[in-house]
Amino acid sequence: MRRFKELVKGPGSQFENSVHLESRRSQLSVLFARVSPASFQGKSVLEIGCGHGHLGAELEKLGARVISVDGRRESIQQVQKKFPGRQAYVCDACSPEMERFGPVDIVFAFGLLYHLPEPAKFLASCSRIADVLLLETVVIDVLEPELVWIKEGLFYDQSIHGKGCRPSPSWVERELRANGYSQIVDLCAEEERWQEMVAPAYTWRIAGSGSGKRYGEPGYRRMWLASKGERPLVNGKIVL
Ligand SMILES: C[S@@+](CC[C@H](N)C(=O)[O-])C[C@H]1O[C@@H](n2cnc3c(N)ncnc32)[C@H](O)[C@@H]1O
Repeated sequence: MRRFKELVKGPGSQFENSVHLESRRSQLSVLFARVSPASFQGKSVLEIGCGHGHLGAELEKLGARVISVDGRRESIQQVQKKFPGRQAYVCDACSPEMERFGPVDIVFAFGLLYHLPEPAKFLASCSRIADVLLLETVVIDVLEPELVWIKEGLFYDQSIHGKGCRPSPSWVERELRANGYSQIVDLCAEEERWQEMVAPAYTWRIAGSGSGKRYGEPGYRRMWLASKGERPLVNGKIVL
């Protein structure tokens, strides 16, 4: 599996190889198709599971004040090197320590939930840190609320615990509701018009095939905006 990873992602080019570049391009296309980029101006954002902090940098360009957190010291050292001036800290997303970074306007957690051994605990923390959560994760193609556990390799972009999970979309939405988010928007729901713009991982339809339950299976992904209180729509986009 390590050999496979190195062939696909390259051992020395962490977070800057073509796999990650393409992934970030798709993530940002989906996000900004539905959420107003201008509404990040002046917002405080806690970026959790930040990797080397590239997505946080995109939000900074829009005027957000970003604090970045990752469970790996090497990641945080890279954030500090690449983006001097960014507040960046080592912290396990599942630990109660996370909450000392709040309150902020927005929690931003892309590519993290499925690497966590305690995803429900993490979502509960997010709801105490901010009223708005932007969440992106790998999911399984299951209709009912379901979560499967996955053993992960200790690679730079995987679980720091060697254990992750794969939730179904309805599991995520049930947990978000249970944590007090009243507006939950599946930002991938208009996928048809994005066929040309984003990776297929975002343009699939939930069909209940059961796919994605095993480590290494091609990942389906999903992205949500969860908010306590209704965010307004202006010119068809959600304003944060
Ligand atoms: C797939 S990468 C996502 C990076 C970036 N957010 C993105 O979407 O491009 C997952 C990141 O989560 C971090 N991570 C894994 N488990 C974590 C945990 N328990 N607490 C905090 N960060 C964790 C990894 O070190 C890695 O940087």
